[in-house]
Amino acid sequence: MGQPTLFCLATICVALLLSSKASGRGSGNDSLLYHHLFDNYDVELRPVAENTDILMVEMGVALTHIIDMHEKHQTLTASLWLTMGWNDTHLQWSPEEFGNFKTITVPSPKVWMPDIVLYQNVDPYFDGWSHRETYVKIHDNGYVLWEVPAVIVSSCHLDVSNFPFDTQACQLKFGPWIHSGFELVMRAMAENGSLEGFIQHPEWRVLYFKATANMIWYGEDFNIGTPYADVTFTLGLQRKSTFYVFNLLLPCLLLTFIMAVTFFLPINSGERLSFGVSLLLSMVVFQLVITEVLPESDKLPWIGRYVIITMILMSFSLAMTIFVMHVCDCTVSVEPLPKWVREVMLKRLAKVMLMGDLSKNLRTIETDDSSSKIELVNDISDLTDTLYANNSSVHCGLQKDVKLTDWYAFQTKMTSTLHDIERKVNDVLDIMRHHQRHRAYEKEWRSLAKVLDRIFLIMYILVAGACLVSFASNTSNEPG
Ligand SMILES: *[C@@H]1O[C@H](CO)[C@@H](O)[C@H](O)[C@H]1NC(C)=O
Ligand SMILES: *[C@@H]1O[C@H](CO)[C@@H](O)[C@H](O)[C@H]1NC(C)=O
Ligand SMILES: *[C@@H]1O[C@H](CO)[C@@H](O)[C@H](O)[C@H]1NC(C)=O
Repeated sequence: MGQPTLFCLATICVALLLSSKASGRGSGNDSLLYHHLFDNYDVELRPVAENTDILMVEMGVALTHIIDMHEKHQTLTASLWLTMGWNDTHLQWSPEEFGNFKTITVPSPKVWMPDIVLYQNVDPYFDGWSHRETYVKIHDNGYVLWEVPAVIVSSCHLDVSNFPFDTQACQLKFGPWIHSGFELVMRAMAENGSLEGFIQHPEWRVLYFKATANMIWYGEDFNIGTPYADVTFTLGLQRKSTFYVFNLLLPCLLLTFIMAVTFFLPINSGERLSFGVSLLLSMVVFQLVITEVLPESDKLPWIGRYVIITMILMSFSLAMTIFVMHVCDCTVSVEPLPKWVREVMLKRLAKVMLMGDLSKNLRTIETDDSSSKIELVNDISDLTDTLYANNSSVHCGLQKDVKLTDWYAFQTKMTSTLHDIERKVNDVLDIMRHHQRHRAYEKEWRSLAKVLDRIFLIMYILVAGACLVSFASNTSNEPG
């Protein structure tokens, strides 16, 4: 491109600019007013009469929609209508001079704008409102009104410890970033933010939306400390908990309840164990659901704690079931119960557990245990001895001619046979008695298992109940 062409282009541009300027200069009252206002206006300077004057900016916010409340990221995404107004001393006129024009609307870059920002903004694509091409409305007394709709992403500390019965307070703090409190102060347009166009949110109910003006000292200006003004809108929200009650809390409670019922299943049926394990698994699923919703913080919400405690209880009760099954497994235990165990568990604790004195019916077996053996031989020899003693009076009936020696032989034979019988009978008795004792021990161990089972059931119910009660009291303490 040659130099003449460049020159040509420049001339055309200048001509175009001039012509546009000339054509823009209308002849109406609005045009007159525009040039009256802006021909000598410095858009960069704070619009105050004296350098030491403090400019007041008022601020109002209308909440129209809560787009998202993200517990995990701790952010609130909402749609807002922002309103700001201030008095610009350089933008005043008397309407009579300009055909009763009381207001004029101009693009916002034409006038001085406060550098208001949202302190908690976390939207990476957002860099302030002042740069955006919006319009402002100027009144004849110098009042400039600036309105802008905005979708904000604000960080908000969400305390979910009472989930799903929680209330949250999100602060939206609007203030100038660089103008200190000596240059610019702020006030709220109304006591409350506006909820006029608010679309109801399915999960959150708005409790309040109040505005407060603050002046906060920050020590960044050479550590002297400078006040900065802001208006803070506090949005109070309450979670509508019905959804979570039905989808999270109720199933959890049901599982806890069913787990308690498993204690009534027969101890040595394997069913109990597998049933408990499947309950534990479904609890794990609920825990996953909860961790999906809630932030990964060290402060666990109540419901999470409840689920975890229930899981611990369930695991414990499963372990206890296995232990009880082991205790009850009578092929292993041929030993009698230790005395103190019988005393403490079967007598005292069983009574406490309303099961009666379980040691009573066991003691009877113990006492007649060392009862007599059958002693046939002694009896027989006694008998024969007496027979001898009264030999003369013995009439052996048909066998009168039986010799005394034969009688002796018969007697010894008989005695040895009887001995055999006696031994065998006693053996059988021994086995029977052993068996009986074994069964008694078995019964003892089984009673012990029952007592342990009952203890664990009561422990389970107590802990689960205590958790529930503390849960209920925790949530009822919440305001709103
Ligand atoms: C603007 O000026 C008017 C009249 O002087 C006054 O009533 C109003 O409060 C001022 N507004 C602000 C934001 O300073
Ligand atoms: C300005 O308004 C006045 C009063 O309404 C009118 O008489 C006058 O003609 C207007 N001027 C122009 C340039 O339109
Ligand atoms: C502001 O909100 C609070 C709480 O919702 C309410 O009690 C108060 O009346 C409201 N104030 C105005 C001026 O509406």
